[in-house]
Amino acid sequence: MHEVFLSAQRCVQQEVIDFCAEKFSTKLTPRFFYAEKILARANADIFLYAVELSREVRMPKREDAWKLLCEYTSSESLRKHMLAVEACVRAYARKFGADEDLWGITALVHDFDYERWPNNDHAADKEHPAAGAKILRELGYPDEMVRAILSHADYTNVPRESQLEHTLFACDELAGFLTACSYVRPSKSILDLEVDSVKRRLKDKAFAKGINREDVRKGAEELGVPLEEHVQFCIAALRENADALGLRGSL
Ligand SMILES: [Fe+2]
Ligand SMILES: [Fe+2]
Repeated sequence: MHEVFLSAQRCVQQEVIDFCAEKFSTKLTPRFFYAEKILARANADIFLYAVELSREVRMPKREDAWKLLCEYTSSESLRKHMLAVEACVRAYARKFGADEDLWGITALVHDFDYERWPNNDHAADKEHPAAGAKILRELGYPDEMVRAILSHADYTNVPRESQLEHTLFACDELAGFLTACSYVRPSKSILDLEVDSVKRRLKDKAFAKGINREDVRKGAEELGVPLEEHVQFCIAALRENADALGLRGSL
C-alpha cells in the first residue's frame, strides 16, 4: 500500500511539474512539493494550489535575504550599495506594477557574494556572481531572481531579457554614481542633488572613475527611459530612503 502511495506521489509530482512548466513557464523541482498535501486535493485546483504552494516555499523573506547579505558582506559601503539598488528597483517595481518583494529582494542580494569573491578576472562561471547564484539556488531562491542576478554582470554571458533584469542592470551602476555625487556635495546629501549636477559629473571622467559611464547609458537605454528621467527617478527613490542609506548628510 505504501509503495502504491509513493508511486502515486511521484506521478502527481511529475504531472504538476510538466503542467507548470508548460502553462506558467515555472520550473518546479520535486523538493518543493508536499505531495501529501497535493494528493489531498484530488481535483482541478491541484495545479493552481501547487503553483501557489511552490511560490510560497520558494519566495525568500527580506529578513532572511538581509541576514544572508550581512553574513557574506561586512563592508558598510557595499551593504549600503545593495540597499540603494534595492530602493531604486523597488520604486520601478511599483511603477511597472511588478512584484515589489521579488524585485526588491533580488536587488538586495545582487552583490552579496562580491566581497568574498570579487572576481577580478571576470570569470563567467566562478566567483561573483556565479558563486552567489549557486548559493541562492541551493537556498531555493526562484530562478527568475537567480537569473536576474547572473545577468547584471555582462561577463556571465547571461543575456538580460526580463523587465527585472533590465531594471536591475539600469539601477546598479547609477545608484553607485548617485551615492558618489551626494558624498562630494557640501551637504553630503542626496536631498539637494539635482539632475543637472549628475549630468555634469557623468561627463567628468576624473570623477568616480570606477563607475562605468557606458553601463549607466546602456542601462537607461535597455529600460527604454531617457537617461535624464531615469536619473530623476532614482534620485527620488534614494531620497525616500535617505536615512537608511546614510544619504541625508547635514540636511
Ligand atoms: Fe555586481
Ligand atoms: Fe552592484
